Amino acid sequence: MANKVQLFKTLRTVNNQGLKFYATAADTKSARNKTFSVYRWNPDTPQKKPYLQDYTVDLNQCGPMILDALIKIKNEIDPTLTFRRSCREGICGSCAMNIGGVNTLACISNIDKDTSKATKIYPLPHMYVVKDLVPDMNNFYKQYKSIQPWLQRKDNKNIGDEQYLQSIKDRDQLDGLYECILCACCSTSCPSYWWNSDKFLGPAAIMQSYRWIIDSRDTNTQERLEKLKDPFSVFRCHTIMNCTNCCPKGLNPAKAIAETKKLLGGIAKKKEPDMNSV
Ligand code: SF4
Ligand code: F3S
Ligand code: FES
Repeated sequence: MANKVQLFKTLRTVNNQGLKFYATAADTKSARNKTFSVYRWNPDTPQKKPYLQDYTVDLNQCGPMILDALIKIKNEIDPTLTFRRSCREGICGSCAMNIGGVNTLACISNIDKDTSKATKIYPLPHMYVVKDLVPDMNNFYKQYKSIQPWLQRKDNKNIGDEQYLQSIKDRDQLDGLYECILCACCSTSCPSYWWNSDKFLGPAAIMQSYRWIIDSRDTNTQERLEKLKDPFSVFRCHTIMNCTNCCPKGLNPAKAIAETKKLLGGIAKKKEPDMNSV
């Protein structure tokens, strides 16, 4: 009986852009070779400009998602390829990258089965790059921290003294907001954020800010809104909608921003809580 163990051979050739790698199955009859063109940049060789490196993977020997292909490339072809990942199921947000021109999560993004076209993979756009597909998230996290994403109350009770109650209807208001995994796909797809990421908070941070502003248990609503009252933090959003179009969790940060603008402009008011929280 034929040996079913698939042995992989790694072939190397050199082309103009740099090394080109191929992973080929021993059984080449049924091979469906797909090229992945991956952005490479190494901080240890800063004089070398970023470039695209081609890797060829047999789709018959690979899982269905882009992250499967990247892990296969790293394990079997090129261990120097660098990217972030953890959960492999769209929960941790760490594998966010630009795949075929769209910001999304590599672990829940299906490989395009058309082997005649290469799939291009870049890091999230307009971020500093740490290495290869890893963006520098420091500014993004700093902005998230700046909106103080935790429950704040004026009654200064000690933690554990009381439960803070919330009606089912008030809790429902947080649906579509709390599910955000802070992957930054939305913020890095926004042209306003590209040009003003030092002062514009971007859709992800604004949506989380709104999540705490409308929480019926949070009593620091006015203070939170005051901090956002400037021409840049929120109002640099020009309703371009890339954020909502690309969110891999199907959330709508553009709507949360619009609601925040209404609160800031005095057009809308926070709903009174259905019940006394304490
Ligand atoms: Fe990611 Fe969506 Fe959250 Fe933006 S709103 S950070 S795209 S999960
Ligand atoms: Fe940008 Fe989304 Fe506003 S793409 S401009 S944050 S609606
Ligand atoms: Fe966690 Fe992709 S690996 S979201």
